[in-house]
Amino acid sequence: MDDPEVPPLLTITNKPINKDDYGGFLGTCTSVSKFEKLNQLGEGTYGVVHRAVDVRDKSIVALKEVRIFADGKRDGIPNTALREISLLRSLRHQNIIGVLDVAVADDHLDEIYMVMEFAQHDLADLIDYSAAKFTVSEVKCLMKQLLEGLEYIHSRGIIHRDIKMSNLLLTSSGVLKIADFGLARAFVDRPMTPSVVTIWYRSPELLFGAKSYSSSVDLWSAGCIMGELILRSPLLPGASEKEQIDRIVNLLGAPNDRIWPGFRMLPFARSFRLTTMRPNTLNKVLSGQSEATINFVNELLTYDPARRLSAREALSDEYFYERPIALDPSLLPTFPSVKHISDEAKRADAKLVQAGGQQQQQQQQQQQRQGGSVSVKNKSQIKSGSYSFEFGEDDLPEDMRQPKRSRR
Ligand SMILES: Nc1ncnc2c1ncn2[C@@H]1O[C@H](COP(=O)(O)OP(=O)(O)OP(=O)(O)O)[C@@H](O)[C@H]1O
Ligand SMILES: [Mg+2]
Repeated sequence: MDDPEVPPLLTITNKPINKDDYGGFLGTCTSVSKFEKLNQLGEGTYGVVHRAVDVRDKSIVALKEVRIFADGKRDGIPNTALREISLLRSLRHQNIIGVLDVAVADDHLDEIYMVMEFAQHDLADLIDYSAAKFTVSEVKCLMKQLLEGLEYIHSRGIIHRDIKMSNLLLTSSGVLKIADFGLARAFVDRPMTPSVVTIWYRSPELLFGAKSYSSSVDLWSAGCIMGELILRSPLLPGASEKEQIDRIVNLLGAPNDRIWPGFRMLPFARSFRLTTMRPNTLNKVLSGQSEATINFVNELLTYDPARRLSAREALSDEYFYERPIALDPSLLPTFPSVKHISDEAKRADAKLVQAGGQQQQQQQQQQQRQGGSVSVKNKSQIKSGSYSFEFGEDDLPEDMRQPKRSRR
């Protein structure tokens, strides 16, 4: 007889289920017992990511746990996780992280994992913990791969909406993989929430509250990534939406209806006093870079999303034809893996490598990674007050996941 303490499992039409009829709870999924966890790679919003070995063929994979909520309000598997799994399973491209399988525990329903191909590094780790300074042809190699991945998803009508360093993985053979599709969605011609993309990489149309936007938000992020790869520090590290806009205006000059038709109609366009006379200072910030490089970043960081480069246009930009051309990914230098090292040790290591101002910057970035308050180096650049926008949840439940305020 059934244990009276254990409620029977029911189908959605309330018929009892005998789990033995279904091979435990596995269904068509693989049992997680086929994987042996080795070490933690990262901790995301919805659970920990582990490096693991598939005991059947000894291959190394990444297991991303899908955290299941049981708090009444958000019971069950997060919509974002279902979306991430289904989107990633429909995509196949060498610059998009591959989902190999979905694994579940043999006899309980609260453990679900995405089994992904394993990548040695993420770009945030490389910038934070290695002394590596990317050469011109290495930056080109990484940007080319990022844009090829973006061109692929955009051509399938998908916007990533969280392009940032820690979501860009790098394999030991130099292949860049766009990961973390938790905020991605198919482009639709109706209002979408502007509360997407980690703030440092968030485009001006989102910051000014546009609810109608397109894949061009990912190209703005790509421009920020390129600046960061060149500088080895974030190009626009704002601590709030307001400060982010100030930083953009300081770098590029102020937007207006002439360079960005329709700008004044955006929900928050009139909420700010923008200093109109600021010149574009990108050539100073990226001094030493070629004219084609500076023009290219400028074209990615174009205020008007309609005139911003698309991924396809970007790939045929003069920047990629100017010498030195992009390095072949297989020729990218190898970097020591920091994924197996504990965060403590990483911090200690980083302190040895870094010195002076760099160390201060490192500490700031680490503080942000740990969710601490953002301390900004040059406080005089920041106008006081923390202005934060609030948006209604007019989009789908995907937006339960709020984008972060720092690189990670
Ligand atoms: N396939 C993989 N191979 C190696 N490392 C990975 C892989 N997938 C994720 N990671 C590591 O785990 C981290 C978190 O993964 P991911 O971004 O997919 O999770 P998330 O819950 O969406 O994270 P967050 O909310 O922090 O952006 C990544 O930044 C990366 O360092
Ligand atoms: Mg992530």
